[in-house]
Amino acid sequence: MSADLKKLVPKLLLQLDGKSQPEMIALLCGLFPGQVTFSTSFGFEDQVITQQILSHKLPVSIFTLDTGRLFPETYSVWSRTIERYETKIKAYYPQAESLQNLIEEKGPNLFYESPENRKECCGIRKVEPLKRALKGNKIWITGLRAEQSPARQDLQPIEYDQVHDVIKYHPIFSWTTEETKEFINKYNIPYNILHDRGFISIGCAPCTRAIQPGEDFRAGRWWWEDNSKKECGLHLHAPVVEDEIMLTEK
Ligand code: ADX
Ligand code: SF4
Repeated sequence: MSADLKKLVPKLLLQLDGKSQPEMIALLCGLFPGQVTFSTSFGFEDQVITQQILSHKLPVSIFTLDTGRLFPETYSVWSRTIERYETKIKAYYPQAESLQNLIEEKGPNLFYESPENRKECCGIRKVEPLKRALKGNKIWITGLRAEQSPARQDLQPIEYDQVHDVIKYHPIFSWTTEETKEFINKYNIPYNILHDRGFISIGCAPCTRAIQPGEDFRAGRWWWEDNSKKECGLHLHAPVVEDEIMLTEK
């Protein structure tokens, strides 16, 4: 664990004031050259951040975790994105042998059978590849927004991730869905057409469904599971640790 990275968080939070998202990303790139990376799943939020990074030519590497179970529509927006920005997006894949063993033992749709199976699948298809993707980086940019779930409302736009030993920055953390959509429309940014069909938060195809008006944002993710367990392990939070940082720095 890096105590220095952890200590930097409150200082960076103070830097947010009055800065645009590209300005803040540029500041982070200056502090950690070649060690700033952005994860995209090609949802509305990630498309906004992709536009901000690439239109300002910010030196941030961009990656996605291809679980192998994404929607065809997600592959389509991925293609349109690399064409539009003439850019490269690095794709990380599950370890072939681990996946082979899992599917052989439990079948391809194991996730519906128990939360343990679901977490095992997410572990192999997302969490382990994420570890490889973050290796060597100090800043991890994500598209998390506070509005997305009650658990996310307790986060800060900049936080220390002790699991991966990186600082996470969520540039559009405080944006509403409306603001996010407006930005997409304003710059005519390619987006996942599933968003027009009631899909708000889009993950793997077998684990995502459309939601009805009035339903919770994440109601369509792992809908057969208990609400409180709906994180896949990419974003594990330790609010107690963050509180400690804030207290010691004030
Ligand atoms: S998840 O934890 O439930 O899967 P969510 O779909 O809300 O996450 O996305 C939040 C952020 O996590 C995205 O903005 C993106 O930065 C990152 N993320 C989620 N899924 C992926 C993926 N498959 N590849 C890369 N980044 C992802
Ligand atoms: Fe597996 Fe579903 Fe998790 Fe995707 S979201 S990795 S298919 S359990």
